[in-house]
Amino acid sequence: MPMHDPVILGSDHAGFALKEKLKDTLDRLRVPWEDVGTTSEDSVDYPDFAHRVAEAVASGLFSRGVLVCGTGIGVSITANRHAGVRAALVCDEDGARLSREHNDANVLALGGRTTDPAAADAILETWLNTPFAGGRHGRRVAKIER
Ligand code: RB5
Repeated sequence: MPMHDPVILGSDHAGFALKEKLKDTLDRLRVPWEDVGTTSEDSVDYPDFAHRVAEAVASGLFSRGVLVCGTGIGVSITANRHAGVRAALVCDEDGARLSREHNDANVLALGGRTTDPAAADAILETWLNTPFAGGRHGRRVAKIER
């Protein structure tokens, strides 16, 4: 099993339950993690947590982040406002693999209300274990930043 850098996780209330499950996945894979919240299902605003995770990845403090809101849409839109962050909203294992191979995604966004927890477990494992393919994809990823 490959060694992984620590992962930083965050969610809003709608992603809280799935975030808690994903910490079990990370424990199973022996991947260290840090959780920036939220800490319950009380209503909060997803950008507050998405910015925390995105800032940690953009600054280089963490190489990978995971964000969960109800759909994954709000957190991915927010995280992608940060230069150097490539947040991918993923709904299946193929998407997880391709977001790494082709896009070098450094933030995984998932929907707590739209993703089956067992599927999310497999998505996260695939996403962590898939390397960036480089080559022509490296040229394309280099063109993303404005
Ligand atoms: C919260 O109700 C919901 O809007 C949020 O979790 C997310 O899905 C936004 O994109």
